[in-house]
Amino acid sequence: MMVVGTDLVEVGRIQEMIERWADRFLERIFTSEEISYCQRQVRPAQHFAGRFAAKEAVKKALYSAGQTEPVLFKQIQVNRDQQGAPWVRLRGLSEIPQVSISHTDRYAVATAILESP
Ligand SMILES: CC(C)(COP(=O)(O)OP(=O)(O)OC[C@H]1O[C@@H](n2cnc3c(N)ncnc32)[C@H](O)[C@@H]1OP(=O)(O)O)[C@@H](O)C(=O)NCCC(=O)NCCS
Repeated sequence: MMVVGTDLVEVGRIQEMIERWADRFLERIFTSEEISYCQRQVRPAQHFAGRFAAKEAVKKALYSAGQTEPVLFKQIQVNRDQQGAPWVRLRGLSEIPQVSISHTDRYAVATAILESP
C-alpha cells in the first residue's frame, strides 16, 4: 500500500525563526548540506521552508505507514539530483520516500509518498 503525507509552510514564519534564532534554529532542523544549499540561494527562507515542508510531509507519511517512534527533522535529509529534483535520505529507517516541493514568496508546499511495509 502507498501512503502519502503533505505539508504547507508560511515562508514568513521560517524567516522569523531564522531572524530570531539563527543557527540554533537551522542546526536543529536542517543538515549541514541542506543549510549550505539554501544559504547559496537568493531567497534562502523559501528553500528552507520547502525543505521544512518536505520533512513534515515525510513524517506524516511515515506515521501513516505505522511508524511509532518519533522521527527527528535531521534524520530526513532532502538532496537534489542533477536536474534539481529533490530526493530524500532517511537516516536509521529503511523506507525510501519520494517527495515533491514547490514554493513562492509566501508559501512552500511538499508532498511525500512511500510504500508502507
Ligand atoms: C523542474 C521545474 C518544472 C520546476 O519548476 P519551478 O516553478 O522552478 O519549481 P517551484 O518553484 O514550484 O519549486 C521549486 C522546487 O522544485 C523542485 N525541483 C526543481 N527542479 C526539479 C525537477 N527537475 N524535477 C522535480 N522537482 C524539481 C525543487 O525541490 C525546488 O526547490 P529547491 O530549489 O528549494 O530544491 C522547472 O525548473 C523546469 O521546467 N525546469 C526545466 C526542465 C528540466 O529541468 N527538465 C529536467 C530534464 S527533463
